[in-house]
Amino acid sequence: MTIAKHIFFTSICFFVFNSCASESNEQSVDDRLNSLLSKMTLEEKIGQMNQYSSFWDVTGPAPKEGSTAKQFEQLKNGLVGSMLNVHGVENVRKLQQIAVEETRLGIPLIFGFDVIHGFKTISPIPLAEAASWDLEAIELSAKNAALEASAAGINWTFAPMVDISRDARWGRVMEGAGEDPYLGSKIAHARVKGFQGDDLSAPTTIAACAKHFAGYGFPEAGKEYNTVDIGAQTLHNMVMPPFKATIDAGVRTFMNSFSQLNGVPATGSKYLQRTLLKEKWNFDGFVVSDWSSIEEMVEHGYAENVKHAAHIAVEAGSDMDMQSFAYVEHLADLVRSDIVDEQLIEDAARRILRVKFELGLFDDPYKYCNIEREKATIGHEKFQEATLEMAKKSIVLLKNQNQLLPLKKKGLDIALIGDLADDKTSPLGNWILAAENNSAVSVLEGMKAYEGNNIEFSVGAKLNIGPLEFAKELKINTTDKSDFAAALKTAKTADVVVMVLGEHGFQSGEGRSRTNIGLPGLQQELLEAVYKVNKNIVLVLNNGRPLALNWAHKHIPAIVEAWQLGSQSGNAIAQVLYGDYNPSGKLPMTFPKSVGQVPIYYNFKTSGRPNLPSPDEVFWTHYQDETNAPLYPFGYGLSYTTFEYSDLEIISQSGTTIELSVAVTNSGKFPGKEVVQLYVQDHFAQPAQPVKSLKRFELIDLKPNQTKTVRFTLTEDALGFYDDDGNFTVQPGEFSIYVGGDSTANLTTKFNL
Ligand code: BGC
Repeated sequence: MTIAKHIFFTSICFFVFNSCASESNEQSVDDRLNSLLSKMTLEEKIGQMNQYSSFWDVTGPAPKEGSTAKQFEQLKNGLVGSMLNVHGVENVRKLQQIAVEETRLGIPLIFGFDVIHGFKTISPIPLAEAASWDLEAIELSAKNAALEASAAGINWTFAPMVDISRDARWGRVMEGAGEDPYLGSKIAHARVKGFQGDDLSAPTTIAACAKHFAGYGFPEAGKEYNTVDIGAQTLHNMVMPPFKATIDAGVRTFMNSFSQLNGVPATGSKYLQRTLLKEKWNFDGFVVSDWSSIEEMVEHGYAENVKHAAHIAVEAGSDMDMQSFAYVEHLADLVRSDIVDEQLIEDAARRILRVKFELGLFDDPYKYCNIEREKATIGHEKFQEATLEMAKKSIVLLKNQNQLLPLKKKGLDIALIGDLADDKTSPLGNWILAAENNSAVSVLEGMKAYEGNNIEFSVGAKLNIGPLEFAKELKINTTDKSDFAAALKTAKTADVVVMVLGEHGFQSGEGRSRTNIGLPGLQQELLEAVYKVNKNIVLVLNNGRPLALNWAHKHIPAIVEAWQLGSQSGNAIAQVLYGDYNPSGKLPMTFPKSVGQVPIYYNFKTSGRPNLPSPDEVFWTHYQDETNAPLYPFGYGLSYTTFEYSDLEIISQSGTTIELSVAVTNSGKFPGKEVVQLYVQDHFAQPAQPVKSLKRFELIDLKPNQTKTVRFTLTEDALGFYDDDGNFTVQPGEFSIYVGGDSTANLTTKFNL
C-alpha cells in the first residue's frame, strides 16, 4: 500500500467530513420532505416505492428492447426509487447520474446490497460471529463491512438478518445469530450500530435493514420458504425481541419475509407491519418487501392476481416493492379507482425519502461515489487484520480428549486430509456477491505458514463435483472414492491427522435446506476409514449450521468447530490448532445427536411428563431410540484451559432488582476467555415459561489461577415475558438462577418475587 493510499484511508476512517453543510440543511428534514412531496406527482411517489435489481450492464450502452429497456425508461422518468445489486463507484455513479440529472425532480436513488458478512473482505458467517458472544467485535465487523461497502457506492445493506431459528435443517441459520432471543437481540443491536454508526449521513456508514419480518426462521420441517405456523408466545418471546432490539438501535429499514405467518404472507400482514412495527414500535423508517414477495402472494393463494397483491401489500405497510413490478404497474390505477387511499402512497414515499435525506443523498447524491476512496479502501489490509481477529473469536472447541490440542509447532508429521482443507472459496461462506472466489486463506496455507512441521495434504474425497454458482444446487460427490487410498496412506504414518470436513459454503444459505445434517457426500465414510488407520485425529469442521455428529463425537479425540470463517479462515484455524489463540467461542445453536431431534433448543418448555417415572416405562416425554439430550448444548464451548464456578450469591434484592455475584477461576494452564452465562427459570407462570432462559452474560479474561468475581444485575426485563398480545409482564412466584459456561449450567440459587 502506498503512503498516500494509507493517509487517505486513515483520514476517511477518522474524519467524518460534512458534505452536507448546505443552506438547505438548515431546514428540518420534515420541512424538506413536505416541500418535496408537494411537488411530486402520484406516479413519482409510486416510483420511490419501486426497486429493481441491476437490470442492465450499467457501464454499457442503454438497452433498446425488452423489459430492461422498459425499466431503463422508468428510471429516466423518475419511476425507480432504489436499485440493488449494483456496486462499484463507476456503476453507481452512472445510475445515480440518470436519477439526479435526467429525471424531473432529480431525486437520488438509494443503493441496496446484501452486505451480510463483509463486502470484498469477507468476515465469518453471522452464525459463526455469534459464537464469539463478543458484541464489540461483532459491531466492529459490521462497521468495517459498512466502511468497505460504502466506498463502493453502497449506502444500504440488507442486514442484519435477526431471525431466530431452532431448526438446523434450514439453510439460512448461517445468516442469523442462532436460537436465543436474548443473545440474538444483543447481536442485532450491535450489528445495526456497526452498520449505521452514530451518524447515518457520514459517507462511511450505511443504513441497516432488520429482516425478515417476521417468523421466517420457523419454516415447517426446516424447508425453505415453507409455511410458518407459530403461537403468540413464540412470536412475541422468541421472534420479536431481536427485531425490537434493532428498533432500539435506530435501524432505518425493515424487510418483510417470503413466508406466511399463521396463514397471512408476512408481506401482506397489516398486523406485523402497521399495528406492531409502525404503530406500537413507532418505526418511522421504511419496509422493503423481500425479492418479489409481493407478487408471490398470488402463488401463496392469498391474492387473486398481482394487482390485488399490490393492493394488499400497500395497505399492510410494505413500502418498497423489491422486484415484483407490482407497485409501479398497478398502484396508480388502484388509487385512481379509489381502491387504495392516496395517503398510503404519500406515507410510503415519505418514509423512503426520509431515509434518503438522513443518508445525506439530497445534499450530495454522489457522496458514496468517490473513486479515490474506493481505491484506497476496498480490500485494505486493516480489514484483513480485523477479520482474522473475528474469525479466531468465532471458533468453538467441541472436544479435546487428552489435550491433543494445541499441536506442537515442531517435529510433527501431519496428514492434512479433506477437500475443504485446500479450498479457498468455500470458507467465504454464502453471501459473497462482491468477493472474489478463491480468495480465502485455506487451512493448508494457514498451517504451512508454521514451518516447523511436515504437512502432507491429501484430498481424500472430492466434495463438490459440479459448478459453483450462487443460485444453483451443488453436485455432491457420493461415488468417487478414487482418492481414498492416497489419503489413508498419508494418514497411516502421520503423528497427527487433521481432517477438514463439513459443508461447502454453498450448502447453507437461502434455498439450501437439508434433511440429513451429517457430513455430506463421502466424508463420513472417509473419516471412519482414516480412523481405522490412525486414531489421532483432529476434526476441523466447516459448516453453516449445526451438524449431527454422533459418530465423530464418540470416536474422534479432538473436534474444532470452524464454520465458514471468511477471508482469513485458514490463518485463524492454524492459530487455534497451534495454540497461538486459545479458543473461547460458545455455540449459539444447539447441536443435535440426530436430525430426528430437530427442532431442539435449550429454552424448551417442560411437558407434563418430563421425567422417567419407573425403569423402562414409556409414558413420558422421550424417544425410544435416542436420549433427549443434545450432542452439544447451546452456549457450549471448551478452551485449552478450564474454568471453575463457585460462590453464586444473591447480594441484594429490592423489588424486581436483584444483584448477584459468582466467582470464576481459571483452573488450567493457559490464559483464556470465558463467557459467563446466567439463565433464569420462572417456575410457574401463565402462560408457562421455558425451563431456562439466558438473561445475562459476560466475557471475561483470566490468567491461570486467577479468580474474578462477576456481578450481574437482574431487572424486570430479565424476569418477565410477553403475553399473547405482546405486552410485557412480570408475574410473582419462585425463580431459579443458573450460572455457568453453557446452558446446562447447574450452579444455582433461588429467590421469590
Ligand atoms: C433474500 C433477502 C435478500 C434479497 C436481496 C432475497 O432472496 O431473502 O434476504 O436481502 O434476496 O438480495
